[in-house]
Amino acid sequence: MKELGVYIHIPFCLKKCNYCDFVSFSSNDKKISEYINYITKEIQIYRNTLNEDYIVNSIFIGGGTPSLIDSKHLKTIIDEINQSFKVDSEAEITIEANPGTLDNTKLAIYHEIGINRISIGAQSLNDDILKKLGRIHNSYDVLDAVELIRTNQFKNYNIDMMIGLPDQTIYNVLTDLENVIKLKPTHISLYSLIIEEGTLFFELEKHGQLNLPNEDEERIMYHKAIELLEKNGYKQYEISNFAKEGFECRHNLKYWTLMPYIGLGLNSHSYIENTRYSNYSNFDEYYKKIKENKLPVSSEEYIDDISRMTEYIILGIRLNKGINKKHFKENFGIDIEDYYKDAIIKNKQNGNIYEDEETIKLTKKGLDFSNIVELDFYI
Ligand SMILES: C[S@@+](CC[C@H](N)C(=O)[O-])C[C@H]1O[C@@H](n2cnc3c(N)ncnc32)[C@H](O)[C@@H]1O
Ligand code: SF4
Repeated sequence: MKELGVYIHIPFCLKKCNYCDFVSFSSNDKKISEYINYITKEIQIYRNTLNEDYIVNSIFIGGGTPSLIDSKHLKTIIDEINQSFKVDSEAEITIEANPGTLDNTKLAIYHEIGINRISIGAQSLNDDILKKLGRIHNSYDVLDAVELIRTNQFKNYNIDMMIGLPDQTIYNVLTDLENVIKLKPTHISLYSLIIEEGTLFFELEKHGQLNLPNEDEERIMYHKAIELLEKNGYKQYEISNFAKEGFECRHNLKYWTLMPYIGLGLNSHSYIENTRYSNYSNFDEYYKKIKENKLPVSSEEYIDDISRMTEYIILGIRLNKGINKKHFKENFGIDIEDYYKDAIIKNKQNGNIYEDEETIKLTKKGLDFSNIVELDFYI
């Protein structure tokens, strides 16, 4: 039986943050109930579509703000997954939660339905910066959320933080991280701000109204952050992800190692049986397809062996353990050194990658140029 990941997108937020282009909307109870109803139907359609036997060993409820909605909806979804699929009793089940949206009742239901990992979006612990980001919470709400999670006996929780933010200094990043470390999360994600088209930040940046750290400052933030996190037992295992030993996010690792997963809900993506599927990102089209008893898929692409090899490298090189040459040969029947000879020689010479008998991985310098390194492996 093959292992399967399940992602569920909950596209609702109280308010749009100024930098975020994820698919999310403000909503009311009626619309949320309707959406959940369609998600359960989508699960049933998947159950009838998949050709192989799978066991679900990771579930990720992401958003948007899944912690915003009534927990009875989450129960409905998890119940439907349990009825439709075989779910490993040790499955990692994560929910994304915004500070200020959790309470004891919600957390008790999360326990009851098997949620065992909580990912808190803090982004910063500086109240001026949080205001600029357009967040709905302040730094005290982050501390309260962690306290609540801990008193409700959740042992496995992540905190999302961001660097490269407007008016953020290296000092801000390091003091924030020192305070985050005191909260004892098992996992910390550290994202560099990306200015996305269609966001308020994009407009402000265009008009020179966003005081962003320059590229060099941002890279210093990143490398100093890595040093601090590693010193405190948070091992970097991917470009933006750090974990205490044994607490790497199982679900996200599936994305980076080309393991099968299905994505349910608006704008979700699936990778299954060598095909990548993208769901519709507007409610009407998504609902229409499901009413026709079809997967709500707007596009699909068969990933042939050559593309799979390229993806394996581009995603794998982001992992700190890098690409294992033996695994590559087992998977694709060819030697990575032969097939990607030019890309490997070039990036070794310019100090972006390191190669030994067993692996190929990014160097410290390569971490800053991963996008450029990846391009060299496109064939
Ligand atoms: C889609 S959000 C969902 C989590 C939750 N709604 C929240 O905001 O706390 C997941 C994470 O993506 C990161 N993120 C969102 N937009 C980003 C951007 N433009 N650049 C970098 N990271 C971003 C944030 O750290 C956020 O916590
Ligand atoms: S960052 Fe999170 S809370 Fe803010 S709009 Fe995006 S999904 Fe919603």
